[in-house]
Amino acid sequence: MSTPSVYPPSEDFVRKAHVQGMKGYLDLYRRAEQDPETFWGEIAEREIHWFEKWSKVLEWNPPFARWFAGAKLNVSYNCLDRHLTTPRKNKVAILWEGEPGEQRALTYQELHRLVVRFASVLQSRGYKAGDRAIIYMPMIPELPIAMLACTRLGIIHSVVFGGFSAEALKARIQDLGATLVITADGGFRRGKEIKLKPAVDAALEECPGVRDAIVYRRTGSDTPMKQGRDLWWHELDEHATEDCPAVPLDSEHPLFVLYTSGTTGKPKGILHTTGGYLTHVTATMQWVFDLKEEDTYWCSADIGWVTGHSYIVYGPLAGGATSVMYEGAPDYPQFDRWWRIIEKYRISILYTSPTAIRALIRQGDQWPNAHDLSSLRLLGSVGEPINPAAWEWYNRVIGKGRCPIVDTWWQTETGGILIAPMPGAVPAKPGSGTLPMPGIIPDIVDLKGFEVGTDQEGFLILRRPWPGMIRGIWGDPERFREQYWTRVPGSYFTGDAARRDADGYFWVLGRVDDVMNVSGHRLSTMEVESALVRHPAVAEAAVVGKPHEITGQAVCCFVTLKKGDYSHEQLGKELRQWVAHEIGAFARPEEIRFTDALPKTRSGKIMRRLLREIVTNNSVTGDVTTLEDLSVVTKLAAQQDEE
Ligand code: WTA
Repeated sequence: MSTPSVYPPSEDFVRKAHVQGMKGYLDLYRRAEQDPETFWGEIAEREIHWFEKWSKVLEWNPPFARWFAGAKLNVSYNCLDRHLTTPRKNKVAILWEGEPGEQRALTYQELHRLVVRFASVLQSRGYKAGDRAIIYMPMIPELPIAMLACTRLGIIHSVVFGGFSAEALKARIQDLGATLVITADGGFRRGKEIKLKPAVDAALEECPGVRDAIVYRRTGSDTPMKQGRDLWWHELDEHATEDCPAVPLDSEHPLFVLYTSGTTGKPKGILHTTGGYLTHVTATMQWVFDLKEEDTYWCSADIGWVTGHSYIVYGPLAGGATSVMYEGAPDYPQFDRWWRIIEKYRISILYTSPTAIRALIRQGDQWPNAHDLSSLRLLGSVGEPINPAAWEWYNRVIGKGRCPIVDTWWQTETGGILIAPMPGAVPAKPGSGTLPMPGIIPDIVDLKGFEVGTDQEGFLILRRPWPGMIRGIWGDPERFREQYWTRVPGSYFTGDAARRDADGYFWVLGRVDDVMNVSGHRLSTMEVESALVRHPAVAEAAVVGKPHEITGQAVCCFVTLKKGDYSHEQLGKELRQWVAHEIGAFARPEEIRFTDALPKTRSGKIMRRLLREIVTNNSVTGDVTTLEDLSVVTKLAAQQDEE
């Protein structure tokens, strides 16, 4: 292994940073390690507004944690109301740009007003703490408004990414037992309307528990409304009031459930609660993004994924930031849309994904070079390992060598960032998430749970509970225990392979379970397989992730067919479309390979290891990750398979 380059922050950056130099980082880290409860208790007290204090910071009965239990707070109050008595009152909270070009700048005061109005509507329709709402919306301000209105009343929300199909939406509504759906007619992407309401209509045919579907008019296209169920947001707003105070909720009150892919065909509802989650995302906004009052911060994720929850909505707003939201595609109308946005709003912090970076690299440096990006001071990356070539480009072409890059490792389950450099303290190494956040004790172990040595690959685990951690899988405590806590008893099993170098830096290599990472979106091989075998022509299917130059991994399916006469070309197209229909367009397979039989063990288990090797060895087309890393992940994954 060659020694990677090291990039320390500039003296100027360090001088202005919240956490300065390695000493600053180590002081925090050691304090948290020695006495995590006092450490987190102080942060919670300083950063969050509580209606009532806790008596104990943490109750830990593995795998069940309760943070600040008994204390009372409200997330919407923390993100809005408390700023209104400060100079932030007239600061822009959400700075939004629609794909067609409209702009909205909602100040904290204005955002508060809209949230209160919508919460009053929900309240008047009888929704209350503990009820569940599904939110299925485009990237418009009404999406965070709906989330914040729910949290104001204690309604548990589950945002479903707009790219999911009616089938996937239905499964989530049913699993959650939602009684309310909040949606829109559609949104804009690549100049076209992407309709959402038809998927809601299809899903709701089999969801009798849903009383109301509230529809925001975004595109204005023709939208049939079902009498007695569908309601226009703007019509309800006519009867809204501006008197709807935030409800004090227990710190462990469920805040949201976010569905993510696991290792079975059924997505799991990851449960996050109130006080610990908010403390964690607020603290990491400062530690990792070094958030300052004057920053204009842009996280380019979709709010349908956890990154958008924690780092577009809750973390930034609790921290009083100006959070930028953009509705559409990065290449519309041209490949410089993002750079135009940065130049226009003088964005200072950009947080995006390696997939997006690689896609933009391919279009050429002339696009970013044509714009003034000098407002940027910090860059971030999330969702998948970033390959060093993409890191270097991000640093050189976007950051002009001036901006530290924070490569942030975390998961839907972890709620917030766990491994990342504090930019004014920890020198970066391209491809490494560097060092853990205070209070986080990661370790790398072998199959038996023993710590491996320096530079050895193994399974990444977390030894201690942290405030933003997953509290459970909705409706399935057994799966929660079994999936995360049995491998190394008492420790959280991440499902990722990693190694630690001689400086203690973590290098996350990828998943060791049957979860693929396509464009930074988690997708289970089993979910795609179940979708495929629902097609009448398919006998069996095995799905693996295949290395892909832009998206990190692509979906590759091996399929055996039932007896019949098929045109492979035609059927291949049909099956790709079928998967998009069953799950969502982002899950559309890159490749369908027809085969007479699938390789199996004597006990009849499909040997994914072999398939993974096949697709890995004959298709590495560029600098994705190093081949060495891929083979490690394959090897570790195989050990798991063969257990
Ligand atoms: C991967 C996204 C390497 C990892 C926040 C993890 C990463 C999964 C990184 C979680 C990173 C995320 N470096 N790998 N900086 N960030 N991952 O739940 O495999 O959508 O387990 O959460 O993405 O994906 P999720």
